[in-house]
Amino acid sequence: MIAIRSRPELDLIRRSGEILAECFAKIEEALAPGVETRELDRVAEEFIRARGAVPAFKGYQGYPASICTSVNEQVVHGIPGARKLVEGDIVGIDVGVARNGYFSDAARTYPIGEVSEKARRLMRITKEALDLGIDEARDGSRLSDVSHAIQKHAETNGFSVVRTLVGHGIGRQLHEDPQVPNFGLPGKGPMLAHGMVLAIEPMVNEGTGDVLTLKDNWTFVTVDGKLSAHFEDTVAVTTEGPVILTR
Ligand code: MF3
Ligand code: CO
Repeated sequence: MIAIRSRPELDLIRRSGEILAECFAKIEEALAPGVETRELDRVAEEFIRARGAVPAFKGYQGYPASICTSVNEQVVHGIPGARKLVEGDIVGIDVGVARNGYFSDAARTYPIGEVSEKARRLMRITKEALDLGIDEARDGSRLSDVSHAIQKHAETNGFSVVRTLVGHGIGRQLHEDPQVPNFGLPGKGPMLAHGMVLAIEPMVNEGTGDVLTLKDNWTFVTVDGKLSAHFEDTVAVTTEGPVILTR
């Protein structure tokens, strides 16, 4: 069942999302060649707790950190550690915030210094795919209209979407109904309605969309070792159109 949030509840998710958006600004200040990914995790956790909120990922199904840092061929759920980011890397950063029992979830992929033209293009197309998906998150649309818009933009630009990982409903928990695939035919699935809140999160690969997990049991990587990018926002469906709660 897809939850319908009241106006006060949407405001609470928005407040959680505002802290998340500010957290990204803090992380961006720290992003530079030479920084260890665990330093980004420390910055994020400190900031979120200082705002009276909780990093939603920490301890989630045993996840050991507050954010995910996924470098280059890593798709999502990379665990922060001693790895130093170097010029030319791209790093996907995924953050979740829980405040007063309401959750928000967002991700961005950043270049470290100068990166290749193909990396820039992959990041741009993935961000555009997210924006096109968000634009379909309207009262009266079907869920797969979001999915289809994302897939179409990725594939017409020569990239692949990851099919084994999906976006999700969000609100009182990090992951709620429905699943939000990044592929599908338009006009299918549940009808979207005012008060639904979705975490829409395209993962787009330069080569094949197939992924596997590393031995840490968390990090997803592309099977062909080519680049992957990830952007995510928490979005409310309203009669006034989609409202992004995490920017
Ligand atoms: N945005 C990711 C997701 O929706 C965050 C989960 S990471 C975890 O799957 F560590 F919390 F599992
Ligand atoms: Co998510």
